[in-house]
Amino acid sequence: MARHLVTSALPYINGIKHLGNMVGSMLPADVYSRYLRQRGHDVLYICATDEHGTPAELAAKEQGLPVDEFCARAHDAQKAVYDGFELAFDYFGRSSSPQNAEITQHFARKLYENGFIEERAIRQVYSPVDGRFLPDRYVEGTCPHCGYDKARGDQCENCTRVLDPTDLIEPRSAISGSTELEVRETKHLFLLQSKLQHEVEAWIDRVSPEWPHLSTSIARKWLTEGLNDRAITRDLDWGVPVPADTWPELATEGKVFYVWFDAPIEYIAATKEWADAAPDGETRDWKSWWYEADDTVRYTQFMAKDNVPFHTVMFPATELGVREPWKKVDLVKGFNWLTYYGGKFSTSQKRGVFTDTALSLLPADYWRYFLVANAPE
Ligand code: 2FM
Ligand code: ZN
Repeated sequence: MARHLVTSALPYINGIKHLGNMVGSMLPADVYSRYLRQRGHDVLYICATDEHGTPAELAAKEQGLPVDEFCARAHDAQKAVYDGFELAFDYFGRSSSPQNAEITQHFARKLYENGFIEERAIRQVYSPVDGRFLPDRYVEGTCPHCGYDKARGDQCENCTRVLDPTDLIEPRSAISGSTELEVRETKHLFLLQSKLQHEVEAWIDRVSPEWPHLSTSIARKWLTEGLNDRAITRDLDWGVPVPADTWPELATEGKVFYVWFDAPIEYIAATKEWADAAPDGETRDWKSWWYEADDTVRYTQFMAKDNVPFHTVMFPATELGVREPWKKVDLVKGFNWLTYYGGKFSTSQKRGVFTDTALSLLPADYWRYFLVANAPE
């Protein structure tokens, strides 16, 4: 009997997800977990809400709520929908948990000790009108690669390229719409992915023969372009704080980790949340799934294609650089986009069928069957 660890990409907290999100992550992970359980395997299916970063801050602002309160409510709202879809998670955690802060800070300290994190002064987009730096999704504009005019500062959702806010053509503030943006200098931590390129490549050579073509081709494209060192901190109020014992100056300035640094670590942290939530009399050993996990643990991740680079390259680079025996993924199951009348589903443009509406129209099993039968593989 094998032990199977299964995770699905953590849905952003910023609103109820659409069927396109469901079909490329949680639903197939649920179906796979159920299948494995029926075969008699020991399965742990973990998911959580991805609560940090600009998506959370922007959504809270839109609703006029403090971010922590917005996240608590939005987590419960998403959980209710997933219960309606009968997703059988072993645990549905929250990336804003203390467990995630602890493990994320531990990873950062280790990466620093091992020479894979460096402090650098960089130029960031600053908006005098908003009186603040504008990281990631706080800036919108035209993608320099494909010309999509609603690209966000962190990634173009049209061509999936990862961007820096300063790359965007005709940038504007996502808060005020202001186009009077400046570039100012500020200090941030960088993950030195370039130093880990060869190790990531060797790891991919070893594990990817089993992956679907979509996952392998995206990972290879990234590696061929060369891994860039990436800023893993942000000037935001909400997030995992940079630990003051290691970076006193940055901590005083209130820097937090970049959402894509702490989000995959939440797969581990949510497993600890699961263990910490064990009822009296039951012991749950979270570490046996993740740390020095023996060969019987097989780890499968589910996600849509825009998430593939982070899971095949950035998170493995992080795990490798920590120099501790954390479990790495065995199989990355990536999905294409589900289309809606020939176009993309879109949360920001409220285009498509959303999961709460779907359940008000038809029973969960109808959707589950239809979506899996038509999965965009
Ligand atoms: O694209 C998204 O919806 C992200 N919230 C996925 C995060 S996956 C994981 F790494 F946390
Ligand atoms: Zn693009």
